[in-house]
Amino acid sequence: MKRSLGSKKIKTAVFISGTGTNLKNLIKFSFLRNSPIQINLIISNESKAKGLNFAVKYKIKKKTYVFKIRKNAEKKILRDLKKNKIKLICLAGFMIILSKNFIKKFNGKILNIHPSLLPKYKGLNTHQRALKNKEKFSGCTVHFVSSKLDSGKVILKKKVRIFKNDTVKSLKKRVLKQEHILYPKAINKVYSNL
Ligand code: GRF
Repeated sequence: MKRSLGSKKIKTAVFISGTGTNLKNLIKFSFLRNSPIQINLIISNESKAKGLNFAVKYKIKKKTYVFKIRKNAEKKILRDLKKNKIKLICLAGFMIILSKNFIKKFNGKILNIHPSLLPKYKGLNTHQRALKNKEKFSGCTVHFVSSKLDSGKVILKKKVRIFKNDTVKSLKKRVLKQEHILYPKAINKVYSNL
């Protein structure tokens, strides 16, 4: 997986559905000279996703796909990934569960960031559940995507303290800050020569 010295950056697509703070952060990371990735395509299932504005701001190609019939949308995405020579996919708040078939086609080349300490709190509403269970810690995890939801091999995790007066909003904010550090770190861990 490691690149040889002097090789070009890995052509990467980022998939989003919402605000895109992780996307923005990955774009900035990709601009660093030593970053192993370049972002060539931003994909969304939501034409109104706020994060798509970063595509405009940073002049990166963006595409929205209607996921009424998943199979059809995935077929179009796979075609466009091929056309753009994409070798790595970074999911960043992408709210669609990709099919087994899609994941197989990009086996070992899809990463995701999840707002909990996996294997705890797979799926949605992680912060609500962690608070409800009176956890002392939550956090975030970057992992490879496998056909089982939020269960692929973990690359890196970061613990975040939960305080007594935390709300979903305050915890989300604190975890998100760590996500922005963790995602680039995890990419470097897998793909960098440094
Ligand atoms: C993040 O909390 C990420 O862990 C989860 O979705 C959220 C996306 O946030 N998968 P943003 O759109 O990157 O701001």
